[in-house]
Amino acid sequence: MNNNIQIIVIDFGGQYNQLIARRVRDFGVYAEIFPHSISIDEIKKISPKGIIFTGGPNSVNDEKSPTIDKKIFDLHIPILGICYGAQLITKLCGGKVSICEKSEYGHSDTFVNNKTVLFNNIPDMTTTFMSHTEQIFELPNGFEIISHTDNCKIAGMQNINKNIYAVQFHPEVKHTIYGDKIFYNFIYDICKCENNWEMKNFLNKSISELKNTIADGKVLCALSGGVDSSVVATLLSKAIGKNLTCVFVNHGLLRLNEEKEVCKLFDNNNLYPMNFIYIDAHKRFLEKLKNVTEPEQKRKIIGSEFIKIFEEEAKKIGQVDFLAQGTIYPDVIESGLNGSSTIKSHHNVGGLPDVIDFKQIIEPLRLLFKDEVRKLGKELSLPDELVNRQPFPGPGLGIRVIGEVTEEKLDILKQADYIYLQEIKKAALDKNINQYYAALTNMKTVGVMGDFRTYNYALVLRAVVTDDFMTATAYDIPYDILQKIMNRIVNEVKGINRVFYDLTSKPPGTIEME
Ligand code: XMP
Repeated sequence: MNNNIQIIVIDFGGQYNQLIARRVRDFGVYAEIFPHSISIDEIKKISPKGIIFTGGPNSVNDEKSPTIDKKIFDLHIPILGICYGAQLITKLCGGKVSICEKSEYGHSDTFVNNKTVLFNNIPDMTTTFMSHTEQIFELPNGFEIISHTDNCKIAGMQNINKNIYAVQFHPEVKHTIYGDKIFYNFIYDICKCENNWEMKNFLNKSISELKNTIADGKVLCALSGGVDSSVVATLLSKAIGKNLTCVFVNHGLLRLNEEKEVCKLFDNNNLYPMNFIYIDAHKRFLEKLKNVTEPEQKRKIIGSEFIKIFEEEAKKIGQVDFLAQGTIYPDVIESGLNGSSTIKSHHNVGGLPDVIDFKQIIEPLRLLFKDEVRKLGKELSLPDELVNRQPFPGPGLGIRVIGEVTEEKLDILKQADYIYLQEIKKAALDKNINQYYAALTNMKTVGVMGDFRTYNYALVLRAVVTDDFMTATAYDIPYDILQKIMNRIVNEVKGINRVFYDLTSKPPGTIEME
């Protein structure tokens, strides 16, 4: 699908590459990331209005480092180079890059010493985010300096005639205070892009493309009730109605009332026409998890049982033409940008394509970032609670009941978790916290209630802030709110007499307990 790509982002391996495409899209301009091996012919075919070279960890002076065909500079398409991208422009256009006397990492006072269009409406002195051990020492012919720092004489350069711009710092990182403005200036004032990337357009286009691709075919979709699979199911329902079959397997490891909410929403043909199959398999999962305490083994049992059940249901349906997956753009980028039907290795219902007889996979969200999936969900009129839902792991409460999973422990945890979620929302902290949940420890402690001794489970509360879920820090929930939550839980949930708050960041902890 070509969504009228206006900006192509050429990937040189930098860690912030996704952010660049997101920043551009946030301004209503559709951008896609391409590997640096993209050919000049491919670029001509796309005919973008602008090109951005990303940063990267290599040295441009190393022969083996990623590079690009020099002819890109003769296409008369504006180019913005960032960090490694800036150094690559320098090298390819005849300038010189060498190791800096002093590496710069972090905030840097940057002087904007030429009122270039790229720095329109940016103060003469501003803070940028730098991360480099090499820098530009000699300008290529036709270039002039547009910014500098104390350590870096050429922190920005331009060649107005060729419409080429380069910055040593990272405008995509939020620590660069006017980073967004730089992107705005580049995409609108320099590249003259149009503001036309809207979820409404994507929705209409995607529905008509799905109709064309699927025609009268039958589509099978595993619905988990999470954001991605719910948006995929709704989109397909709009496109092909009853030719869609959604299978929702309740493994009994969902949060309180979650299965009821998913059924209420989707098992209603007026709202989203489809064949909806609900499988209550909680007994089967509990049976398999009996006496199992090792976390990896629990995860494997849950995953493989899920696939078995899904496969059994798929067989009852018969031949399926398409299997729908909720793959999103970060998964595609992380899998190497190449394959057109890359399958998420850590997908919620991992491994499904191997066991089901289908002709083709369809991934309607493969070009969208998570926040765009949420916007699309809103466009599809999915309820806010669903669209803004925090991540929930495929193995569900199975990895939040530490040790053996039993029905009794699950019941206790569901009630406590419900209270915790309720109170966090009531305190309006849910917008600040990226993921929060309760877990039941495998430990019983002694307490006293009224005049009686209790010997019950200890509960852990977890709340983290994170950008990417790869690293995270514990959220600082105000003490009075923690106390209120603790009070409600020990008073209202039979089976818990003690509550802990987990302060561990990731690393060394992980977000989930197991
Ligand atoms: P960890 O515990 O590894 O979690 O720090 C990082 C993020 O991934 C989620 N998570 C999973 N999601 N299937 C999923 O779909 C899984 O097996 C799984 N395990 C962890 C976790 O909730 C957090 O958002």
